[in-house]
Amino acid sequence: MAEPGVQNGEGGDATRRDFIHIAAGAAAVGAGAMVVWPLINQMNPAADTLALASIEFDLTKVQEGQQVVIKWQGKPVFVRYRTPAELERVRAEPNAGSPPETDAARTKEGHQQFLVVIGSCTHLGCVPTFNAGDYGGWFCPCHGSHYDASGRIRKGPAPLNLVVPTYEYVSDTRVKIG
Ligand code: FES
Repeated sequence: MAEPGVQNGEGGDATRRDFIHIAAGAAAVGAGAMVVWPLINQMNPAADTLALASIEFDLTKVQEGQQVVIKWQGKPVFVRYRTPAELERVRAEPNAGSPPETDAARTKEGHQQFLVVIGSCTHLGCVPTFNAGDYGGWFCPCHGSHYDASGRIRKGPAPLNLVVPTYEYVSDTRVKIG
């Protein structure tokens, strides 16, 4: 089976397995190209997982102020558990981004502390750095795009907000992505 290629700065043959990485806000320092997400877990690494249209994720694995990166169908998906201060900041700017969107439109009712986005810069596809940039969201070190904590593009060459994939809550603590 052909494996989709992923370039996420980790190198190696990472496309054969799904990984979860976690980045604590305090650990994501600076905006350089060298970003390390400590590996905390390795989800069911069956090769056929990549062929599945969807994947479920247990939200209890991510703590407030942190982000988990799931590799799903060869793409990094950011699952971010936002702090009250981050929520306050993104809600204070209801029409930010390109296209302008509210934070509520990019999240699910009743679960708005969690943001789920494809972790691929909409400029040329680099993986943005967690908790960096001028807007407290992500910073793409490739050409300097700044996203807020809603994944909305705020500054730099990226033309669009980070993409919210199709997903749903299958319980209070589990999401199905895809
Ligand atoms: Fe992100 Fe160019 S790829 S700014």
